[in-house]
Amino acid sequence: MATLARLDIRTAEDLTAAAGDVDMAHFWMPFTNNRFFKANPRLFASARAMHYTTTDGQQVLDGTAGLWCVNAGHGRAPIAAAIAEAAHVLDFAPTFQLGHPLAFAAASAVARMMPAGMDRVFFTNSGSESADSALKIALAYHHARGEGTRFRLIGRQRGYHGTNFGGMSVGGIGGNRRRHVAQVWGVDHLAHTHGDAVRFQRGQQPSNGNLADELEDLVALHGPETIAAVMVEPVAGSTGVLVPPHGYLQRLRDITRKYGILLIFDEVITGFGRLGAATAADYFGVTPDILTMAKGLTNGAVPMGAVAVSRDVHDTVIDRSPAGIEFFHGYTYSGHPLAAAAAIATLKLYDDEALFAHAASLAPVWEDAAHALRDAPHVIDVRNLGLVAAIELAPRDGAPGARAMEAFHRAFDAGLLIRVTGDIIALSPPLIITAAQIHELFDTLAQVLRQTP
Ligand SMILES: Cc1ncc(COP(=O)(O)O)c(C=O)c1O
Repeated sequence: MATLARLDIRTAEDLTAAAGDVDMAHFWMPFTNNRFFKANPRLFASARAMHYTTTDGQQVLDGTAGLWCVNAGHGRAPIAAAIAEAAHVLDFAPTFQLGHPLAFAAASAVARMMPAGMDRVFFTNSGSESADSALKIALAYHHARGEGTRFRLIGRQRGYHGTNFGGMSVGGIGGNRRRHVAQVWGVDHLAHTHGDAVRFQRGQQPSNGNLADELEDLVALHGPETIAAVMVEPVAGSTGVLVPPHGYLQRLRDITRKYGILLIFDEVITGFGRLGAATAADYFGVTPDILTMAKGLTNGAVPMGAVAVSRDVHDTVIDRSPAGIEFFHGYTYSGHPLAAAAAIATLKLYDDEALFAHAASLAPVWEDAAHALRDAPHVIDVRNLGLVAAIELAPRDGAPGARAMEAFHRAFDAGLLIRVTGDIIALSPPLIITAAQIHELFDTLAQVLRQTP
């Protein structure tokens, strides 16, 4: 294809007109089968509320809030206006030894949504950076307390904490780890929470006995004086919506507290209303020491992540460090004016439209609609919580993942965006979805499954 001639693309019409011109060679696409995509491109031109429009003019119902991030729906005018104003007024300002009011106002807005006492906020640009920042904060905390021997980080199998070295190492996805041989040293993993015996569970599984007590075994193995932090997603999202059993997170909290280990919740997916509450910590009634977020923070409109930290952790690092910079970590774009403006506008929108309460009120409709697929072809499990669901398919013989990937393409052609991981279909729509759109989503998916061999 020719190199794109026009660089002044502004409107959806411009994007549509440019699509045929696009040179696909240069963009090395993330987490993508590049060879397949570039031979069979699917390009978006615009997005509004619950729908994308492709460059072919097709309407696609967004069953995944983009990549779990567009919680307030697409094309929200107050967010766009806030970004535009910031770009005109203060395009960039450093936050190293200097600052600007938007970053402080954004931190206050985030703090108001966090569990009580977790009101100190460090800004990043993504979930991966939030995960690595959280791990570093945990290490800095123990170091400041004179317990520098605590260097071990405990994650969980099937956990996803992004792709940087810390998050990748603490994460428990073989495919993400094995090809990147170097790992952060001293990491260990708990077992994941998904019991194969329990299928078609609505919401949380019954208490799974002493699953969390495995942490006691790791403490006995390594010694509490070597363990800095345990990091888990309250609900594992990327590996297929693994909902924790009743009591599990509280038990992790109890054990970590007993041994002076910090508990980190990775709420990059669960933050900002996905479960019908501001955070999963709120939803489950379990408060960690450190909480990471990203996706819903700016409604996906500008990259931004954050780490909320308890006052104890924050004050320990700040007050017990020698004079000078207390925490040797940060990003050029931490608290970027455009992202900060987007975050302030996004969080106000969540409040103004009571979107978390809306999500909570629709969760039972969502649950019923998801579980109505239990008898659809190939379905071997359905899981759900809040406005998240997973439909797990039986893999094809000798071709794991192929059936779900085919369903993904068929769904797209039928006007529905879903996400697949292995043979699991994950669904997480914008929180503005209506009951009628929930039915449309699952009806379309049922039809797709009937057509998928
Ligand atoms: C729980 C969790 N942590 C971290 C990340 C990484 O976020 P990002 O892709 O913004 O780096 C993700 C992304 O899906 C996630 O789900």
